[in-house]
Amino acid sequence: MVTMNRNKVVVVGAGTVGSTVAFGLVSHGLCNEVVLIDPNRTRAMGESHDLDDGSEFFDRHVNVHVGDYADCANADIVVVTAGRRPPQGSNRLQELGFTVGIVGQIVDDVMASGFDGVLVMVSNPVDVMAWYAWKRSGLPRSQVLGTGTALDTSRLKTIIGEETGLDPRNVGGFVMGEHGDSQFVPWSTVSIGGKPFARFLSDNQDRFSSVSLDDLERKTRDRGNAIKDAKGGTNYGIASTVAGIVQTILWDERRIVPVSTLLDGEYGEHDVFLGVPTELRANGANEIVELDLTAQERERLHHSAQIVRTYCSGLLT
Ligand code: LAC
Repeated sequence: MVTMNRNKVVVVGAGTVGSTVAFGLVSHGLCNEVVLIDPNRTRAMGESHDLDDGSEFFDRHVNVHVGDYADCANADIVVVTAGRRPPQGSNRLQELGFTVGIVGQIVDDVMASGFDGVLVMVSNPVDVMAWYAWKRSGLPRSQVLGTGTALDTSRLKTIIGEETGLDPRNVGGFVMGEHGDSQFVPWSTVSIGGKPFARFLSDNQDRFSSVSLDDLERKTRDRGNAIKDAKGGTNYGIASTVAGIVQTILWDERRIVPVSTLLDGEYGEHDVFLGVPTELRANGANEIVELDLTAQERERLHHSAQIVRTYCSGLLT
């Protein structure tokens, strides 16, 4: 069982994503202890010292140090960021061959420690990796989740904010499905200022005539690749997403976040991890919110499920 008073988070992978995740945890004072694990201990040591050097200016003291898998034994959360900077022009599914071997070994090492907390997968393709980590770890469904479409949802709100000039926090709704090219926006469930989003646009044609739903969806889906093309990879958005997920779990906030979680009959899908609105508690992913999707939106979710399942099949044989 997860206990609430230790507040220890282990980050596996001290590359750009892992170290930015650690910075998010430390700078927000979200836990008491952050442990970095990386095969390159020298790099991890450098990141740990660099993080520590801001301690005078943080709100809380957080103990940051380099560790090994034994540190997972009493960790509340283990965040797995291992992977590589994807080549230009590749999609996340193409990372599978590279990531799967590393992640398999990481999951085995984490579990050998006696870990019984929440495993948060970040490595891409994240929906496939979360399913694989769940199967391989033997942990209960709630205790394995992926970052899913939480980042894509934040991107959608940001882009709507950019296009309308409104504060992104006015937007309610989620991006769903694969954290990848088959993700989709169930527009029938997206609202702004309490009004269905499409209706809000048509009621305010004079201000928003240039805003198109297809365009917003495409920009959201392509945002990660656009950033990758511009700077080689992404780190701040995903690290903020992980920090938000960690906070929600550690503080038992019960926030509903579209993490990648096991669908076990919800939305008519089985044995697949996808980004769907999910209530996060101290023990991880709990109830899935089943939105009233249109037939076309359900079909798009199913299409995402088929793709992710195809990539999962064969991983355990
Ligand atoms: C992104 C990576 C995390 O979308 O997949 O930024």
